[in-house]
Amino acid sequence: MASKLKIKVNGLSHGVSASLDTPLLYVLHNELHLHGPRFGCGLAQCGACSVLLDGKEIRSCVTPVAAVSGKEVTTLEGLPGLWAKERGTSSAVPDLHPLQQAWIDVQVPQCGYCQNGMLIQAADLLATTKNPSETQIKQAMNGHLCRCGTYTAIIEAIQEAAKTMVKGAS
Ligand code: FES
Ligand code: FES
Repeated sequence: MASKLKIKVNGLSHGVSASLDTPLLYVLHNELHLHGPRFGCGLAQCGACSVLLDGKEIRSCVTPVAAVSGKEVTTLEGLPGLWAKERGTSSAVPDLHPLQQAWIDVQVPQCGYCQNGMLIQAADLLATTKNPSETQIKQAMNGHLCRCGTYTAIIEAIQEAAKTMVKGAS
C-alpha cells in the first residue's frame, strides 16, 4: 500500500509513494531519480548502495524507507552541499566535494561500480577524523568491496581530500 511518508534527502523534503518497508535504495532510484547509490549485493555486504543518514554511512539496500523519516539522508549527489554546509557557506555550493575532486585528481575509479560507497564512507570518516592515518582509512573502508582493486588509490585520494578539507578549500 502506498504511504504518505515524507523523507529529507540532500536538504529537500520529498513525499514517498512506496510502502513503508520498501528499501530506501529503491525509493532513491525510482521516485527521486538519484542514481549515485548502486544496487550491488542487496544484502548489506558490498557497500555499493551506501548513503549517509544523519552523517553516518548506512546500506540503503536493507534500510526500510520508513526508518529514515525525520532524519537527513545524503547521497553522492548531495556531497557538495554537505561540504558547503560544513564550511558554513550553504549559499555557495561547489560543484564537487573535496573527496570527489581528489578522486578525479588521483584517477581512482576503474569500472566505477563501487565508488559511490567508497566516497560516502570516506565522507563519514573525514567528518570525524580530520587527518586519518593509513590504518584508520583501511579500518573505515573495510566493509566496501572493489572488484577492480582500487584500494591503494582510494587511500591516497582520502589523504589528499583530508588536507584540502583541513585548509577549508573547495
Ligand atoms: S547493495 Fe547494499 S550493501 Fe551491497
Ligand atoms: S572500481 Fe570497479 S568495482 Fe571498484
